[in-house]
Formats: sequence, C-alpha cells, structure tokens
Amino acid sequence: MTNILCIGAGYVGGSTMPILASHCPEDRFVVVDINEARIAAWQSDQLPIYEPGLEEIVRQTRGKNLFFSTEINRHIAEAEIIFVSVNTPTKTFGHGAGRAADLQYWEKTARQILENSTSSKIVVEKSTLPVRTAEAMERILNSNGNGLHFDVLSNPEFLAEGTAVSDMQSPSRVLIGGRETESGRMAVGKLVDLYARWVPLERIITTNLWSSELSKLVANAFLAQRISSINSISALCEKTEADISEVANAIGLDQRIGRRFLQASVGFGGSCFKKDILNLVYLCEHYGLPEVARYWEQVVLMNEYQEARFAANMVASMFNTVAGKRIALFGVAFKANTSDTRESPALAVCRALLDERADIVITDPYALENACQDLKDLEGRITYEIDPYAASSNAHAIAILTEWSQYAQLDYQRIHQSMVKPAFLFDGRNLLDHQKLYQLGFNVYPIGKPPLTRLVNHGLTPA
Ligand code: NAD
Ligand code: UGA
Repeated sequence: MTNILCIGAGYVGGSTMPILASHCPEDRFVVVDINEARIAAWQSDQLPIYEPGLEEIVRQTRGKNLFFSTEINRHIAEAEIIFVSVNTPTKTFGHGAGRAADLQYWEKTARQILENSTSSKIVVEKSTLPVRTAEAMERILNSNGNGLHFDVLSNPEFLAEGTAVSDMQSPSRVLIGGRETESGRMAVGKLVDLYARWVPLERIITTNLWSSELSKLVANAFLAQRISSINSISALCEKTEADISEVANAIGLDQRIGRRFLQASVGFGGSCFKKDILNLVYLCEHYGLPEVARYWEQVVLMNEYQEARFAANMVASMFNTVAGKRIALFGVAFKANTSDTRESPALAVCRALLDERADIVITDPYALENACQDLKDLEGRITYEIDPYAASSNAHAIAILTEWSQYAQLDYQRIHQSMVKPAFLFDGRNLLDHQKLYQLGFNVYPIGKPPLTRLVNHGLTPA
C-alpha cells in the first residue's frame, strides 16, 4: 500500500483523486485543504462542485481508500507521494502583476511539506505552473539538513470541467516530467505505475521537467487560440453574410485543422485559459521575447473584444438603449455542465449591460450561487432566478450565455408570449434553432451569422 496525499481539494484535487482511488484500491488517498468548509462539503452528500459522474465515484471510494481532511501536517508526514493541486492565480500585486503566476500558495505548501517530513518523498506538481518552477521547489525542499531527498515531478492536469470524469477515465495522454537522474527516473516510474493501472502505456508520456511544465501552458494557449481565431472570423462573418458554422465546418473537415474547438461563442471563460496565457506572455517577456509575448497576448485581447462586442451589439440592436429594460441572461457558468463561473464571459456581459443601466436577471441551473459571489459588488442590482420562464417573463431580451442543453428544450412560444415586444434573443453560443425562433416572432442575433429580424436598419437582414 502506498500513502498518497493531495494538497488542494479544489476542482482538480477533488475530481482527480477519487478516480485515482477507484483504480488503485490497495493504495490510500487523502485529500487535504486549508478551507474547512470545502473539506466538510467533500465529506457530505452535497459535494462542493458539480461535475457529472463524480458523486458516484466519491461515494464508492470515500471512507474506503479515499479520505478528506484538514489535518495537513499529519498527512504530509505519512505520505510517500504528494500531489500539489493548490491554486496558482494571476498575481494581482508587485512585479508581474496581471500576468505572472502568484506562487505564494504553492511555495507555502512546499515549505509545509519540508517542515513536516520525516521521510523522503515524491512531490508532484499537479497545479499549472510557470516553466522552471520545479527548480525552485527542489531548492526549497532539498534545503533540509536532515538527509531527506525530495524528487519533484511535473504531472500537469488536462481535464476540462464538465467532462472531468471521462477525461480522467480515458485521458488523451498523461504527461509526466522528471529529472534524468537515477532517483528522478525511479520517481517517474512510480507515477507511471500508478496511472498504468488503467491508462494504456502508449498514452503515458514522459519528458524532462521543463517540457512537461511548458506543455501544459502551451496546450491551453493553443486551445484558447483556436477559439479566439474562430471568434475573430465571426466578427467578419457578421459583416459579410458568411455563416460562421458553415466556415467552421468547411475548414474543420481538413484534418490538418480538425473540427474541435471551432465553436464561435461570446468568448472563452474558465479559471485557466486567460491566466495561463498571461503567464506565458510574462515568461516570454521575462526571457526577452517581446514579439512572442505580443503574439500570445492577442489571444486574450481578442477574447475581451468578443465579450465587449457581444454586449455592444445587444445595446445597438435594442435601439441604442437598454436603460431600464429587463434582460434575462440564460446561463452564467463559463460552459455547460459545471457550476463554475470563474472568468465566465457571462459576467463580463452582465457588467457591460449594467453599465448601460439595464435591469438584469440571471438564470442558471447550477451556477447561481457562484455568480452571486462573483457579482457581490453589484448586490441589489441583479435578480437571480432559477426558473428560465420566470426570468424571461416581461423581459425585452434574452441572451444565451452558457450552452446548457436544457435551454434548447424550452418552450420558446410560451417565453415569447410573456416578453415585451419586440422580443430580442441574442444567442452567444449558437445553441438554438434560429429560424424557428424567428418564426415565433423573435428578433434573433446569433454569433457570426446574419441576424433574423423584422426590424430595419439592423445590419444584414435575410430576404
Ligand atoms: P481551486 O481554487 O478550485 O482549488 C485549489 C484549492 O487549493 C483550494 O481549495 C484552496 O483552498 C487550496 N489551497 C490553497 N493553498 C493551500 C495550502 N497551502 N494548503 C492546502 N490547501 C490549499 O483550483 P483548481 O481549479 O483545482 O486548480 C488548481 C490548479 O490546477 C491550478 O494551478 C489550475 O491552473 C490547475 N488546473 C485546473 C483545471 C480546472 O479545470 N479547474 C484543470 C487543469 C489544471
Ligand atoms: C480547459 C482545457 O480544455 C483543459 O484541457 C485544461 O485542463 C483546463 O482548461 C485547465 O487547464 O483548466 P476548461 O476551461 O474546463 O478546460 O473548459 P473548455 O472546454 O476548454 O472550455 C473553455 C472555454 O472555452 C469555455 O468558456 C467554453 O465555452 C469555451 N469554448 C470552448 C468555446 O467558446 N468554443 C469552443 O469551441 C470550445
């Protein structure tokens, strides 16, 4: 039996460890966090995150070989392998503010590991970190004078929220970076053995530490770049009567381009894309590569442009004023099937419309609590409503901001009847059947397609 600890019981720690525990029944997994409420939630029937399929796995493993705890020091002492999945947000202060990763949580963890260790350990970077972080970690951890040895490995996580369970059960690849020393190779071997319980060996790739750390940032940058690329073209489609879905399909069939991540949208959100690209930008600047930095920075700027463009288009289409108009935002999660609202484009659109003095009502099946926290500074100016029918009643407009499948199943005739006319629908995810909505009487504004509207002077109207 191996004692395995994970420090950080957030989205990553909380969703990866139950799956590891389910595949390694003879090993013992403990997940710890400084956040007591979070640990209590992991121990309860109401898990702190909504992730399809996760609850069942937690129920199967919890109390058998998976435990959640706040006793960090004790569990550090017992562990042989320690995964660290604490948050690494963008720095908000000092040198590199707004770009560099804030490594304070990660460094505190390293020091805590050092203080509480009485045996040598493998420490695994699961958090996303700037390239060469492991070097600093090795220095901190191996600065002990008591003969202990720490091998630092990089094992970045590639799961996406909403599909975390299937991504972990059947990963496209598992990446493990380590030192090319004898002890480094042995540590890598131990981690490979753990994953090999269910992941085919050809999908477990090993690299040097720096390639592994950098690959994680680059993977997110490439994914986000595809979204910004297609979103930039959506703006051009709206000017030219080209249709972004047709363009995406036409280019995506070229296997060199591929079909995935070409869904034009109101913008990408989530806790990682923006932060990881900004981190990449910072690293490029740090290493004296300003041209490379500007290249990647544009991916984030294009995303901000897309969010702002969407909100501005709403205002322009609604006769240049939304002041006092009730607008229902359908979805506030940054994508479907998650309760996570971090960096959600819906928040940016909400703030832009509030600046125009709109009367905002937000509906979402799982993310209202998080949205309420994120928009706490606007308390009293936003209504939260779980029922989309109630949210859209008496509204001038609906904006689809998260692609929840349930929004495609709603009775839009009923919704149209309850709205102020002319009724506007802005589909920031191209989720709905726009022709059908138009026939029901809506003025429909998709992303990257001509609007379907009976109103004049609103850009391109179909014949
Ligand atoms: P999170 O904020 O949901 O969770 C991090 C947890 O770490 C929090 O519960 C926090 O209380 C805890 N923590 C912080 N300092 C601690 C300490 N000293 N001791 C114990 N616990 C501590 O973050 P997350 O979304 O799980 O992301 C964690 C890391 O994984 C980040 O680097 C992120 O970039 C990366 N990542 C996230 C995702 C994702 O889908 N969310 C996917 C891949 C990688
Ligand atoms: C992303 C990556 O996909 C994961 O591989 C990575 O591990 C993770 O970031 C991370 O490091 O945190 P995630 O942010 O959970 O995962 O979700 P994605 O499915 O990548 O979606 C991100 C955003 O892009 C969402 O707002 C989504 O709606 C948007 N998106 C995605 C589009 O607008 N168009 C697309 O075609 C795809």
